[in-house]
Amino acid sequence: MKALVLSGGSGTRLRPITHTSAKQLVPVGNKPVLFYGLEAIAEAGITEVGIVVGETEAEIRRAVGDGSRFGLRVTYLRQEAPLGLAHGVLIARDFLGGEDFLLFLGDNFIVGGIADIVAGFRANPADARLLLTEVPDPGRFGVAELGPDGRIVGIEEKPQRPKSDLALVGVYLFGPAIHRAVRAIAPSARGELEISDAVQWLLDAGLDVRSTVITGYWKDTGNVDDMLEANRTVLEGLEHGVEGEVDGATEIIGRVRIASGAIVKGTRIVGPAIIGTGARIVDSYIGPFTSIGDGVRVEDSEIEYSIVLDGSTIQGVRPIEASLVGRAVEVTPAARTRAAHRLVLGDYSRVRIA
Ligand code: DAU
Repeated sequence: MKALVLSGGSGTRLRPITHTSAKQLVPVGNKPVLFYGLEAIAEAGITEVGIVVGETEAEIRRAVGDGSRFGLRVTYLRQEAPLGLAHGVLIARDFLGGEDFLLFLGDNFIVGGIADIVAGFRANPADARLLLTEVPDPGRFGVAELGPDGRIVGIEEKPQRPKSDLALVGVYLFGPAIHRAVRAIAPSARGELEISDAVQWLLDAGLDVRSTVITGYWKDTGNVDDMLEANRTVLEGLEHGVEGEVDGATEIIGRVRIASGAIVKGTRIVGPAIIGTGARIVDSYIGPFTSIGDGVRVEDSEIEYSIVLDGSTIQGVRPIEASLVGRAVEVTPAARTRAAHRLVLGDYSRVRIA
């Protein structure tokens, strides 16, 4: 079985972070989201992987290379524009041949792997098997409607009135009939060939579409809040390990990973937190669920529940929280301005001002 990983697209929802770079390469726990997916694919016993790439092709190639470090053989498939997930399948027709395959969305993050699901499909193939999970906000996703017997009866992409709270997770298993489906469908209102429409086509054709509801952790890392949550989950499983240089005035509490070449002075770090190679952290506070990238400088600052990408500087700023800071960013305090509250209060108002 081969895998097709979709890593094209333009990542508008993560702009400006991914304005110049691929959203699949934004790190959680200091490792690109895409790498977790590639590792899960290798673990499931798949070695032949096609990666669909778009305008960020060079960056993805640089990061993933020939795939050998994941135990994979990677073929890059260029999509001329982000014309939809089903379009990704369409252009991969020759690569995929007539075999069953796994479709994996490169910005999806799954904890616990996919080995069981892939093994299940190998033993028990169908025209499609979809993974579903309950979400509080189904309107952001593809949504499945199940019949009384638990079988899928319909799929809708980002419906305004979702028929269930079961979202399509970005992992799909397909038999060769999907190639007919992606050729048959028309672009959606947002101008994309939707994989949801292709699956609906399989259903309408009376083909065998099955589903598995998963309860493990899953995130579509398409926005900042999701990235921070995925980062939190990775850090929850972090193992403590200090390789960098830590001075006597530094206090480290809980599970903290400090990579080699990092220097930490006069700082309090409350884990779980990770500090990248060559980072320099001085006179600061690094709070729980924070990933500090390679070569980052944090001085005289406080930061928690955040991701800071490689090469950035944070100096004299406190507190920072729930933030995603891109690469080579500089954060410094503004010149002091007088802090004042401007109030327009009605008669008999009661206000409490901190
Ligand atoms: O994350 C799960 C959701 O993924 C599903 O519930 C939806 O049914 C499915 O349509 C998809 O929705 P998104 O709108 O979140 O997909 P997105 O545009 O973020 O693309 C997912 C991945 O595929 C991402 O890594 C970019 C890549 N991609 C996307 C498009 C549109 C491509 O490689 N080519 C494309 O043309």
